[in-house]
Amino acid sequence: MSSEPGVTAPWWTSAVVYQVYPRSFQDSNGDGVGDLRGILRRVGYLAELGVDVVWLSPVYRSPQDDNGYDVSDYQDIDPLFGTLEDLDLLMAALHERGIKVIMDLVVNHTSSEHPWFTESRSSKLSPKRDWYWWRPARDGMEPGTPGAEPTNWGSLFSGPAWEYDEATGEYYLHLFGRGQPDLNWENPAVRQAIYAMMRWWLDRGVDGFRMDVINLISKDVRADGSLADGPVISGLYGDLAQGTINGPRVHEFLREMNREVFAGSRDAVLLVGETPGATVEDGLLFSDRRRGELDMVFTFEYVSLDRGLDKFDRKPLDLRELKATLGRWQAGLAKAGWNALYWENHDQPRIVSRFGDDGAYRVESATMLATVLHLHRGTPYVYQGEELGMTNAHFTAFDSYRDIESQRHVAQARELGQLSDDQILASLAAFSRDNARTPMQWDDSPDAGFTTGTPWITVNPNYTSINADAQLGDPGSVFHYYRRLIALRHTDPVVRFGEFTMLLPEHPHIYAFTRSLGETRLLVLGNFSGDEQKAGIGRRLDGETEVVIHNYPDPPLVAAGNVTLRPWEALVLRQLD
Ligand code: GLC
Repeated sequence: MSSEPGVTAPWWTSAVVYQVYPRSFQDSNGDGVGDLRGILRRVGYLAELGVDVVWLSPVYRSPQDDNGYDVSDYQDIDPLFGTLEDLDLLMAALHERGIKVIMDLVVNHTSSEHPWFTESRSSKLSPKRDWYWWRPARDGMEPGTPGAEPTNWGSLFSGPAWEYDEATGEYYLHLFGRGQPDLNWENPAVRQAIYAMMRWWLDRGVDGFRMDVINLISKDVRADGSLADGPVISGLYGDLAQGTINGPRVHEFLREMNREVFAGSRDAVLLVGETPGATVEDGLLFSDRRRGELDMVFTFEYVSLDRGLDKFDRKPLDLRELKATLGRWQAGLAKAGWNALYWENHDQPRIVSRFGDDGAYRVESATMLATVLHLHRGTPYVYQGEELGMTNAHFTAFDSYRDIESQRHVAQARELGQLSDDQILASLAAFSRDNARTPMQWDDSPDAGFTTGTPWITVNPNYTSINADAQLGDPGSVFHYYRRLIALRHTDPVVRFGEFTMLLPEHPHIYAFTRSLGETRLLVLGNFSGDEQKAGIGRRLDGETEVVIHNYPDPPLVAAGNVTLRPWEALVLRQLD
């Protein structure tokens, strides 16, 4: 990536992306589920925030087992969300405001109700049989009995990754829910069908794709067609990582996709991959533009640092590890490649409840976290409601949870019998994906202005004080702070291109770094604690400085070489040499 602020830099190096999770954004017809016409009503809000791109989570036809990440028709809209004409209207309204639109592309798997799968399932002789991963029972085992699955893999949503299908006496692979069978990318006809669908969306006017679990598409299949067991790390099943993550042909497939779909339009589109398990080395391979694959990927490394043995096992965050991990990605992608920067999405808990303080210091910690993330080098992603400092759901009962992953986790944890119900509830309160999926808090009217009906999931009762309406009118709000950070990326070449240097790597509470370009240096400081923290930052503050952005109303406490940060204080200084 060129570090010169010049004409050759791709447009998305100064962009900020906003993720809309349509189901929870804005309902327009009173059925309790957000929809496309609802989003249309809020285009002005997105323009005021100043984002450049909207990423729409899936709105395709779907049985909604996994809230749309189980697609049964890639080229139609689920009636729950509206129609193709509604989407055209929304895209036109966003484009008119200069906001691009990227679609979620879920092609590691389809829904089990997709006609491709229905056909594949119908007979071993079906021409589409090989479009999915069908395998017989393990040698010498009775099909359909415990342990007879073709491999020992556990699904990412608990339980086995194979489902026995009595009709033909074989199993199909599903890395996620049993309603989400994995497509067989080894088959060229599958790939061509996907590419044709992608071209259709480009022709309709979309500006790119967010590619769901895209580094799982190539399975490590042996010459005889078999897949290998994985080590049992915890729980009842083997780990599927070795056989499925960053498989042998993933880069080849992505390069082929580029040739087949984007020839001639590649510079105009944004391609961001969701890549669980990707290391910084993988991130470089995916995002080095010369390789013709993706523009950037979402790493999971830093959002796994407060998790223990499994996704639901919480451990305290060690800030030093966070700095080491993000710093490694900054360094690893400094010369080529590019980072996607995020705290939240529809799969992660709310950041202010996770790494911040969603009580007394909610505003300070939400804005501090935003400052630190947005000042890194890369493209920041804002998840709906993050710009308001929305908090976790704080549900106290099992039946408040709607998410398939959470429900299956509860079933499996109870089956294992090692945790009490209270402990299981505590793990959901920390990590359930529903934390991010409670409805957007628009105003203090009933159900936060999200719907006039009954919301599909409970609105967080704190909407009476945390809502967009109140924040739009308050210059000191989290919303306006995000707006300023977004504007800064658009206007300041140091934020966009500056070289990243981590400072104080061993400090347990202060996150500090510089961004430098030419003669200009920005110093970024964030206090990850509710206590005052002092730090020596050497000569970096000598001379004249200008406050670029700051999350306390009164001036920062800096003296040459030293700074005192108040609880959750964040500060960006420009050094004027
Ligand atoms: C991705 C999505 C998640 C979904 C899963 C299966 O991780 O972000 O929501 O459940 O893929 O499609």
